[in-house]
Order: sequence, then C-alpha cells, then structure tokens
Amino acid sequence: MKLAVIEGDGVGREVIPAALQVLDCFDLPIEKIPLELGLGKWEKTGQAITDADIEILEDCDCILFGAVTTPADPNYKSVLLTIRRELDLYANIRPLKPIKGIKGATGNTDFDILVVRENTEGLYSSIEEVGENEAWSKRIITRRASERIAQVACEYAARRANHLTIVHKSNVIKADSLFLNTCRDVAHTHNVIHDAMLVDAMAYDMVRSPEKYDVVVAPNLYGDILSDLGGALVGSLGLLPSANIGEKQAFFEPVHGSAPDIAGRGVANPIAAVLSVAMLLDWLNRPEQARIVREAVETSVNENIKTADLGGNSTTAEVTEFLVYYVQSNS
Ligand code: NAI
Ligand code: MG
Repeated sequence: MKLAVIEGDGVGREVIPAALQVLDCFDLPIEKIPLELGLGKWEKTGQAITDADIEILEDCDCILFGAVTTPADPNYKSVLLTIRRELDLYANIRPLKPIKGIKGATGNTDFDILVVRENTEGLYSSIEEVGENEAWSKRIITRRASERIAQVACEYAARRANHLTIVHKSNVIKADSLFLNTCRDVAHTHNVIHDAMLVDAMAYDMVRSPEKYDVVVAPNLYGDILSDLGGALVGSLGLLPSANIGEKQAFFEPVHGSAPDIAGRGVANPIAAVLSVAMLLDWLNRPEQARIVREAVETSVNENIKTADLGGNSTTAEVTEFLVYYVQSNS
C-alpha cells in the first residue's frame, strides 16, 4: 500500500509529522512517499505542483495532506483543486462530531452531522476570468456529479440515522434545481428519508438546532462554508478531519489551512490531522485501530492535554506524545 505524504506549508509541517507518529504505532504494510507541494515549492521552482507530481500521486493508493498556503497571485495554480480534479476525488466527507469534554461556540454538544460535499464542480470549476471592470466564475452543476455525490451521501445515511438533508439555493440560482432534483431522485431510490434546505436558512438552523441533522449533501461552495461553520460548533477548526474519496483512491486532510498566524511555534492542534488518520484507517478497513485513535484523542482532552485553541497550554509535541503513548498502550 502506497501512501503519499504531503506536509505542505505552515502548520501542515507540524501536524502531519504528528499524525504520522500516531499512524506508525500500528505496524501496517504502508510505503510512505513524501512529496513537496505548495507555496514553498512554488517559491523555489515557480510551480506549486507539476505533472510529474500528479503521476506520482496517481500511482499511490492514498494520500495524507497537511495544508498549503495559497497566495493571491493569479498565476498560482491551486494545488488542492488540481489534485481533487486530476484524481477525480469527487466526494468530500467532513464529519462534524463533538469531542467529549469540549464545548463549541454554542455550547450544544448533542449533534452528529456528516457533511458530504460535491468536490469537482460548482463554483470551483476554475472556468473564470478576472478583468479590470468585470470578473466572472462559471458555476457548473451536472446530473452525473450530482448523482454520484447523492449516492455516496445515501450510502452513509443508510449506515447512520437514514436522514439526508439536501442543501441548495434553487429559488434564486436555477442551476441548483438540477442538484436538488437529482439528489431527491437518488434518495428516493435508496429509501432514505430526505428533506431540503436553502443554504442561508441551513447556516442559521445548523447553529440553532444542529441535532436535527444527520447527513447533509451540498454543492461544492456551500459544503465548504457549512463545514467551517461546523468547526465553530465542534469547538475549533483544529479538530475537524476530512476525506476526499474517488473510485479507487482517497485523500485525507485536516479541514483547516496552513494557519500562518501560529505556524512555526509548535502550538498547532494536531487533532484534525490525527483524526484524518483515523478516517484513513477506516478506509483501509481497520475500524478497531481507527477506534483506538479516536479514543486517544478523547482521552487527551479529558486529561486536559490541550493546545491553545482549546483553551489549554500544551504544545503540539506534548499532545502527540500523549496520543502515541495511549495508542501504544492500548493496541
Ligand atoms: P486557517 O484554517 O489556516 O486558519 C483559520 C484560523 O484557525 C486561524 O486563526 C488559525 O490559527 C486557526 N487554526 C487553523 N488550524 C489550526 C490548528 N491546527 N490548531 C490551532 N488553530 C488552528 O485559514 P486561513 O487563515 O483562512 O488561511 C490560511 C492559509 O491557508 C491561506 O493561504 C489559505 O489559502 C490556506 N488554506 C488552505 C487549506 C488547505 O490547504 N486545505 C484550507 C483552508 C485555507
Ligand atoms: Mg475551506
């Protein structure tokens, strides 16, 4: 099994080594392939990601990714968008689940939401033009992409509370009706109980009553925004893992970015990256090992070994040391 490891920029260089220490506690037949991508590479070579990098990634089974810094320069090609598109990693899975002992921004800890974000089209089509007086980005919705993301969402719903919420804005953006109707048809075929929410109302309601939701399927941009909102509900962006899944490959990454405001100080929360490793273990069909990693995270919080974003004063290294100790003693 080949795992490409991309630390990226900023705190990516701190949280990915931490996550690998946890993964290494299990003696798995994994060949790690380190790859440098992102702003650091762009500054050195003029390219953030090359065709050769894509070929290496295509040859791997899965990828563990930190975060990259994206400069405002219009010549800079987004590393993440390139990888998601080239490898056709069409389903972005973002669990929003409170960790026992942490209260998020609203104090509500009684929810368990799975955001399933369409990852290949919508407003992230990269078909755009920025002129001096006019700029536009083309927003694409296709039946094929809507159908396959709805299928993934329904498969998750069937294993959970069997409730799907379809997020859209079809009252104003007519393209969304194709997304909405396609998702409805798929949910109907799968016998999944489903409803629909306008994205603005959804943002409001997710803050007020997150316990009402189970699986939430959304076009690209809405899913991106709602999952960061979920970060506040859970307590910190430093806690949210994610998976980008395609037909054969999968890519695991914390939801957060390169956090330049705290990078290099050894205080980044490694939990989002470590929980991304738990998602990787699930994908590798190792649920028992994934469970131990999640238990280690919960225990670290209960033992008050927390980074500053959670109100603690532990360093990345101290949290990681505890997680490694816990996993080694319990596996
Ligand atoms: P960000 O997610 O990097 O940071 C937002 C806030 O959350 C900051 O206050 C940061 O300190 C905090 N935070 C993030 N990760 C944390 C962690 N592990 N522990 C503790 N606190 C954490 O988003 P921002 O500031 O909007 O973007 C910074 C850079 O990251 C930009 O260049 C952006 O383009 C890039 N970015 C990259 C992503 C990726 O590679 N997947 C995703 C989002 C942003
Ligand atoms: Mg985002």
